[in-house]
Amino acid sequence: MTASFDARIQKRLDEFEPLLADAAVANTPYVTQAARHVIEAGGKRFRPMLVFVASEFGEVSDEQRLQSAAMVMELTHVASLYHDDVMDEADVRRGAPSANRFYGNSVAILVGDFLFSQASDMVAGLGPEFVQLQSRTFSRLVQGQIAETIGPSDDDDPLEHYLQVIADKTGSLIAASACFGAMAANASAEHIEALRSFGEEIGVVFQLSDDLIDITSEQTGKTPGTDLREGVPTLPVLMLRKKNDPADAKLLALIDGDLTDDATLAEALRQLRAHPIMDEAKAEVERHAALARETLAPLPDGDAKAALFEVCDELVRREH
Ligand code: IPE
Ligand code: IPE
Ligand code: MG
Ligand code: MG
Repeated sequence: MTASFDARIQKRLDEFEPLLADAAVANTPYVTQAARHVIEAGGKRFRPMLVFVASEFGEVSDEQRLQSAAMVMELTHVASLYHDDVMDEADVRRGAPSANRFYGNSVAILVGDFLFSQASDMVAGLGPEFVQLQSRTFSRLVQGQIAETIGPSDDDDPLEHYLQVIADKTGSLIAASACFGAMAANASAEHIEALRSFGEEIGVVFQLSDDLIDITSEQTGKTPGTDLREGVPTLPVLMLRKKNDPADAKLLALIDGDLTDDATLAEALRQLRAHPIMDEAKAEVERHAALARETLAPLPDGDAKAALFEVCDELVRREH
């Protein structure tokens, strides 16, 4: 990758930070502080990065417009984190106490709404096609969260249901981020479509690997095992269930039981981490990453495409 490409993306990411802090300013210091709580705790800024890299497939004539596109995506993301942590009863987010723990559920929900309204205000300035994509994306994201909450019906295959949930709750916004960058840079319809497909696929990989890390890692800035504790089955558990091997019955009973006690959760995590299903789940993530790489075929070779390949490699690597 050339130094100028890296420097350009980094410069945009650096310029993004103070703008993001500004976007959280409300009418009272209390709300501003609560809205900056999760923003200032850190985060990878994956969606803004994707907006900026995708813009490289077009020509950016207005840096401010590009920053707004990135802002709409990150604000929508952060708003969804406020709500997600209430739903998941999470204690920690981005290495800091979650907003629901720090400010209580009501404030966390309303601050999420506030940040979403800030995103709506900003997207209006980008034009109707951006407004429509953002609203359709948010609709999918919310419906994904609802589908996860209510779980599969008796007619649904649980693994298929899970894959649809993660495409909707996570893939939708990551796909929109890739589109927003390309649209803000007036890229061709063909390139926007390739980037949309890439975003959909890599969004699934992103959530699959996030779910694996929930089991494997102690260094996520979140509490390990939150999905298990909340009774949200993710890839390895769903694969285990599908196998229906009597040898796994004890482990599955442990996972399905009450995991509120820290020692019981730690034991479930220990057994799951040691199980060969983890390698099968990782292979499945790699298979999805390969699908994501294929979507890049219509895009011209160059630094931006290389950066997207690198995103695929990095996401697969992080769960090991
Ligand atoms: C967390 O997203 C929610 C998921 C969709 C898995 P990120 O992993 O992008 O969170 P931050 O922004 O880096 O904190
Ligand atoms: C987050 O899903 C998805 C959205 C916020 C839309 P998770 O609940 O799996 O994400 P983490 O692990 O809390 O970040
Ligand atoms: Mg969560
Ligand atoms: Mg959740």
